[in-house]
Amino acid sequence: MTNPIARRIQTYTTTIAPVLRFVMDSPYAHRDVSQPHADLAVGNPQEMPLPGIVDALERWAVPQHKDWFAYTMNLPTAQEAAAAGLRERVGVAFAAEDIHLTNAAFVALAVALNTLVDPSDEVIFISPPWFFYEMMIQSVGGVPVRVRIDPHSFDLDLAAIEAALSPRTRAIIVNTPNNPTGKIYPPSTLTTLAGLLDRASARTGRTVYLLSDESYHRIIFDGREFHSPTRYYANSLLLYTYGKTLLAPGQRIGYIALPPSMPDRAEIGQAITAAQMALGWAFPNALLQHALPDLEALSIDISRLQARRDRLVAELTAMGYEVTRPEGTFYLMVRAPIADDEAFCQRLGEARVYVLPGTVVEMPGYFRLSVTASDDMIDFALPVFARVREEARQATL
Ligand SMILES: Cc1ncc(COP(=O)(O)O)c(C=O)c1O
Repeated sequence: MTNPIARRIQTYTTTIAPVLRFVMDSPYAHRDVSQPHADLAVGNPQEMPLPGIVDALERWAVPQHKDWFAYTMNLPTAQEAAAAGLRERVGVAFAAEDIHLTNAAFVALAVALNTLVDPSDEVIFISPPWFFYEMMIQSVGGVPVRVRIDPHSFDLDLAAIEAALSPRTRAIIVNTPNNPTGKIYPPSTLTTLAGLLDRASARTGRTVYLLSDESYHRIIFDGREFHSPTRYYANSLLLYTYGKTLLAPGQRIGYIALPPSMPDRAEIGQAITAAQMALGWAFPNALLQHALPDLEALSIDISRLQARRDRLVAELTAMGYEVTRPEGTFYLMVRAPIADDEAFCQRLGEARVYVLPGTVVEMPGYFRLSVTASDDMIDFALPVFARVREEARQATL
């Protein structure tokens, strides 16, 4: 009997084995949501959606002309609203026609990789990464090249990136604010990175593109400033999703934005549209595109997320955990009190507190918490964190 699965897909299942274990065979996978529990595992909503999302979808679901639900690539009203939002937040003069609407950041990344990467081209990604980067690079025949961050500052390790740049490097994926570290890369890092990429491109005569995953660029704490790599490096593609800002990741809309500084953006823009068609019409549904100007104006309450971050950092630290304090995003990284983070998360899961093992994001020995959990869930989780830590400590004495 021949194997029913394509070899390509078999490769991915190896690459994302820890993710598959977590979503298919863990206490989280088998959770019973009818029982009291705390879900801090992933950036999913744990409360009712923003009423403004419902209003926008209801309002824009009513057709205003016969083409309302026709095949829709890039609706100009949506492109203009997205570009205006970016101009204000990012401080780059994005033009409406350089916004390419996609089914959120996942598809923005898939389209960008399909547009730029040839088989055997190398794509640098930063570890700890978002769990799907490596698989998505493989999916276009690219060669993933892993570069670790500086483990102390959580900043990019620029010397390691420089060493990883080769004549085959086609792109680098940079995620800021970063999932899972919560780090916003500072201007000095981005300036040096841009210099490295410019020099690498000049050496080979082939542009190295920066895929700037800015999924969380509106989830920023403590009044900090966000620095978009597109301000520093001309050949950057900005990838964005509304799924985080609206905390509605099942409503799939986002975009690729090409900055005005990008020399080949007309040609690349056309190639992006072709890639979206080749991928099976990878454009957002017409309804979401009509609603985008209203959605652009909405956001979850960031101060509530920040308050949950502060509470978790303070209380877990008081229990003896070592906790990072994120500058943005939904996530906190906590050091597990035993080396085997998956075993520790299993014990938390048995007490119906669900968190993500660090192994899934290439940070073994840690676990990740999401502040999208409700306050009630955090009330439920805190005594469990204290008890399971104490049990683990006693067991290792
Ligand atoms: C860093 C990062 N990039 C991309 C995505 C994908 O976002 P979406 O599902 O909204 O496309 C996520 C979602 O978890 C993420 O954390």
